Amino acid sequence: MCIVRHMIKLPAGALMLAPMVELSNRPLRTLMEQWGGCDRYHTEMCSASAWLANTAYEKWFLDTQPAPEKTVVQFYATKVDDIPRAAARLRDEKAAEGAPLAGIDINFGCAAPHIERSGGGVYWMKQADASAELVAKTRQAIPELALSAKLRLGYEDSPQDLLAYCKLLADAGLDYLTLHPRLKNEKFRRQSRWSNVRFLAENLPIPVIGNGDIRSPEDYRKAMQNWQPAGIMLGREAIRRPWLFALIRGKEQNPDFSLHIDMEACALQMINLIRQHLPTVFHISRARRFFLYFSENLSFGHHLCFKIQNALSLSAMEDHLRSYFREVPAEKIRHER
Ligand SMILES: Cc1cc2nc3c(=O)[nH]c(=O)nc-3n(C[C@H](O)[C@H](O)[C@H](O)COP(=O)(O)O)c2cc1C
Repeated sequence: MCIVRHMIKLPAGALMLAPMVELSNRPLRTLMEQWGGCDRYHTEMCSASAWLANTAYEKWFLDTQPAPEKTVVQFYATKVDDIPRAAARLRDEKAAEGAPLAGIDINFGCAAPHIERSGGGVYWMKQADASAELVAKTRQAIPELALSAKLRLGYEDSPQDLLAYCKLLADAGLDYLTLHPRLKNEKFRRQSRWSNVRFLAENLPIPVIGNGDIRSPEDYRKAMQNWQPAGIMLGREAIRRPWLFALIRGKEQNPDFSLHIDMEACALQMINLIRQHLPTVFHISRARRFFLYFSENLSFGHHLCFKIQNALSLSAMEDHLRSYFREVPAEKIRHER
């Protein structure tokens, strides 16, 4: 079965990279692509109003390389008209660059206090009619592109209210939506409530993607089986193990599938990609953020991570990585089974 809407073609059981601030960027996608990547990448969220005002750094969040045909840009906003305007302008700019945009994702889920307080992210879930208007206007602005939204459970644990809200969004023109089934205030400590994904998948006229706490091919398999989403979006674990999409796909074909990862080369390559593809002002913060997760693969990763968090340049980080693998050579090659 294939979902075909506008420019988007998603295989059943589609695998997607989650939008993550300071992480879901061109260096990460480039790293992932060497193992084949995933079916759909979402960029980190970008403020539609800031980009429309031509602020200095937003354009870096909108870089869709190296796979523009499967990269969706996520916008957030506090007003109805900003995302439709930003989406149309971005579509035109990307077409002129010869790298047409795959789609736009609307952020209805961010619970970061400064975003919510200003009326963005999950706050939209308090304003159903305005949310539907935002979707309808964006749909009108980019009729030929995929349009999706990502949301949480909202403020209360009420599947019926959630469904009513999502139906409004679907009727307003979404092609698919992603549910991260946690309430606004729920942190990662609490497990995602995946039964809500199944409830939406069974009752909405559009594909529903599930997201939250998927860490292995086995988790993926069970979530597809138990909760029947159209696909699955991975966040943190895909940062820890950027080859995880390949492992999931490989295991689907053959349970004995395995990968050998050169951990040192992978880490050094990420630093190089950050150097090549991001502005200098982002270098340290983006590398620190990536290695917060990646270091968790290593037995003494907390020591390495501490050094990287305190390093003041990318080359100092490279030195720490090289000396780690000199001291712990057994961890240089990782066998993923
Ligand atoms: C560091 C970080 C940044 C995030 N930034 C965004 C974002 O920009 N937009 C968004 O919709 N969700 C964002 N999220 C939420 C993720 O997309 C995802 O819903 C969440 O991490 C759960 O998936 P996981 O358990 O696979 O990590 C972020 C999460 C993390 C950890």
